[in-house]
Amino acid sequence: MRYSGLKNKVAIVTGAGEGIGFAIVELLLKSGANVILNDIDEERANLAASELDRRYPGSCLSFWGDAGEVGTINKMVDFTLSHFGKIDIVVPNAGITLFGNFLEFSPESFQKVMKVNLQGAFFLAQRAAKEMIKQGSGGRMVMMSSQVGIQAYHRLTAYSMTKAALQMLARNLAYELGPYQITVNAVAPGATLTERTKKEQPDYEGIWGRLIPRGVVGKPEDIAKVCLFLLSGEAAHINGQTIPVDGGWTVAGKYPEDIV
Ligand SMILES: NC(=O)c1ccc[n+]([C@@H]2O[C@H](COP(=O)([O-])OP(=O)(O)OC[C@H]3O[C@@H](n4cnc5c(N)ncnc54)[C@H](O)[C@@H]3O)[C@@H](O)[C@H]2O)c1
Repeated sequence: MRYSGLKNKVAIVTGAGEGIGFAIVELLLKSGANVILNDIDEERANLAASELDRRYPGSCLSFWGDAGEVGTINKMVDFTLSHFGKIDIVVPNAGITLFGNFLEFSPESFQKVMKVNLQGAFFLAQRAAKEMIKQGSGGRMVMMSSQVGIQAYHRLTAYSMTKAALQMLARNLAYELGPYQITVNAVAPGATLTERTKKEQPDYEGIWGRLIPRGVVGKPEDIAKVCLFLLSGEAAHINGQTIPVDGGWTVAGKYPEDIV
């Protein structure tokens, strides 16, 4: 099925040089949207955008910079307006995972994870909403939460807090921006195989697949497809919701004998 309402729309996706963000950009381009692909790694951003622009000519531009910086966010939105003339969709996907024991977690690490994961999403949504309201033709946003924003895990307190907060951000913005026909939802991926997770754990699929009722980890495309739906005309009446995309991980309770 092809979703409606995406052709000629203009989108910003942050943290999109690889992984889930890249898959979202790819599906948006395939649906006829124009996309600004952001990444903090300049070479990666340029390589990814030029590869996609070759396949979808004139539709994909890179914007290099830290998506957690308010100055960068403003420049990125200005860049989008100057190249494509408007902004209809934002997906603040950039996020960093910092593991660390709660009792030893440093203020520097705390600030870092808050800045990228929360400040970046909050201020990109704020600036984009101002432009969307001026344009008067509505808009769509999808926050990138996580399964760990629903359930608690050792050594992930700060990261989990940001991912739970993004769900609340979607609810609040649904309320604030609904009158302007701007919808804001979130997706909560479970363990997803990306270049990063594969590098961190070579047997990522084998290890994490054991926690998931389907027995397999997610692929970036699994998450991107749900984002695309939430960004489309078909999802016009879904607002303020979080959709777990985790193969059933969140709902799987455990008996003592299940724990090995
Ligand atoms: N992969 C998973 O298993 C998983 C699970 C749940 C949630 N998520 C969330 O989904 C999102 C994407 O995850 P992923 O695994 O695809 O990401 P990733 O770690 O592979 O990073 C994707 C890209 O983001 C870029 N990036 C990092 N910090 C940035 C910043 N400050 N500004 C701009 N770009 C930045 C990286 O350079 C990289 O190219 C994140 O928010 C993550 O927390 C991922």
